[in-house]
Amino acid sequence: MTDVVMARAFHVLAVVMWIGGVSMATTVTLPAIRRGDLGGNQLRAFRAVEHRFVWQARVAVIVVGLTGFYMAWRLDLWDRFRAAEFWWMHAMVCLWLLFAFILFVAEPFILHRHFDRWAAARPQVAFAWLQRAHWVLLLLSVVTIVGAVAGSQGWSMF
Ligand code: HEM
Repeated sequence: MTDVVMARAFHVLAVVMWIGGVSMATTVTLPAIRRGDLGGNQLRAFRAVEHRFVWQARVAVIVVGLTGFYMAWRLDLWDRFRAAEFWWMHAMVCLWLLFAFILFVAEPFILHRHFDRWAAARPQVAFAWLQRAHWVLLLLSVVTIVGAVAGSQGWSMF
């Protein structure tokens, strides 16, 4: 079972680096950008931080997906997807799909161009929206992490 232990260790490590970054962006970086603490050009400040973190987040999402499906396959956990008490398994996969879509499809192909134009025209509104979107993602992540840690130890709310 060493392989499953290692898969779990890398799963959690990648989650920490990825959601830790989302938390930092939501509660520290975006408020600082909105206040103008990182310079008058908010879009430039945002891009300087984002273009470094986005690749870390993409790698982390790949690691989380590979290790997560590996554990599900090795431990033959597929039946859990038919039981409501394992809602946190569904939550992990849904959150992963949501972030994968944002990082690999929406951000490079849709958001990048539109957000830049929006932020140049109305920076206050655009960054307020961006921070709200990050809060939603962070809250979903926190619920998923608490559910997964407690649920994998046998806790059930049903
Ligand atoms: C493709 C998506 C994912 C799959 C297939 C997956 C699968 C798994 C599996 C099979 C386990 C072990 C469960 C057990 O031992 O009973 C696990 C644990 C866990 N997963 Fe995921 N996961 C995925 C995505 C995520 C995401 C997006 C997060 C958080 C943002 C996450 C956080 C966790 C945590 C915190 C644990 C508990 C680790 C522990 O306490 O030992 N997973 N995951």
